[in-house]
Order: sequence, then C-alpha cells, then structure tokens
Amino acid sequence: MGPLPEPVKQAQSLPSNADATAVAAGDALFKGNCAQCHAINEVVVGPALAGIRKRRPEAWIQAWVKNSGKLVARGDEYAVKIFNQYQQQQMPTFQLSDQEINQILDYVEASGNQYMAYAPAQP
Ligand code: HEC
Repeated sequence: MGPLPEPVKQAQSLPSNADATAVAAGDALFKGNCAQCHAINEVVVGPALAGIRKRRPEAWIQAWVKNSGKLVARGDEYAVKIFNQYQQQQMPTFQLSDQEINQILDYVEASGNQYMAYAPAQP
C-alpha cells in the first residue's frame, strides 16, 4: 500500500467565508451534537437544516442553539411557531461557542449546496 492521498486542505468553491478546516470541524460537531435529530435535507426529529442561514439571522441561530426554550419562553414569533409545528419537542441546550456554531453552519451550508470539496479524497 502506498501513502494515503493528502486530504484536501483548501476548499475551492465553498460559499461564504467557510474554509475546509471550519467545515470539517463543523461536520464533527454536527455528528456529535445534532445528527441524532437533524439531517441536512430531510426531517428527522427536527427540521432539515439546509438553507438555515437564509431562513434565519445568524444571531437568532446562535441564541436558538444555545437555549431554544429561552426564545420560546420570550415569545419570539418564529421560535414559538417552529416549536409548535414540531409537537413542542424542545431541543436540548448546547454549551457551544459562537465559533463552534458557525462551524456547524458552515458544514450545513457546504453540504446543503453540495459543495463537497472539503471531503477527503477517495483512495
Ligand atoms: C433531541 C433532538 C434535537 C437535537 C439533538 C438537536 N435539535 Fe435542533 N431541533 C429539534 C426540533 C424538534 C426542532 C424543531 C423546533 C422545536 O420543536 O423546538 C429543532 C429546530 C432546530 C432549528 C430551527 C430550524 C428551522 O428550520 O428553523 C435549528 C437551527 C436547529 N434545530 C439546530 C440544531 C443544531 C445546530 C443542533 C446541534 C448542535 C441541534 N439542533 C440539535 C431537535 C433537536
């Protein structure tokens, strides 16, 4: 067996300012924290996350992921609507930093747009 191919370090066509490192970190964070309930393109327990950055402002997403119940309790219109739409199933709270949440969003955006340039090269 020869040496493994070098992983792609710099994505060519990622949207926004996502780079391959952020997307890879977001991939791991998504799998560890979100994938039990979310997929990119289909409803699992919660909604498909593709296009979330177009649907909601970044500050809202940050606040939601950290503590969605707080937004619902505060009467945030969108939060209450989606909470009711999903049988009032409350998301867990997450102790993630803004940067980590942004990495998850970079991953979601990259996957949703099928810009998979960050994926390790096939052997
Ligand atoms: C235990 C299940 C569960 C986990 C784990 C979970 N979510 Fe959710 N999520 C939901 C449900 C259910 C909703 C729908 C709203 C509600 O019921 O509160 C939701 C809604 C959302 C929304 C709003 C989607 C939209 O279309 O407006 C975002 C954004 C979101 N989740 C992000 C995340 C992220 C990021 C993670 C991981 C850090 C995560 N969720 C982990 C269940 C979950």
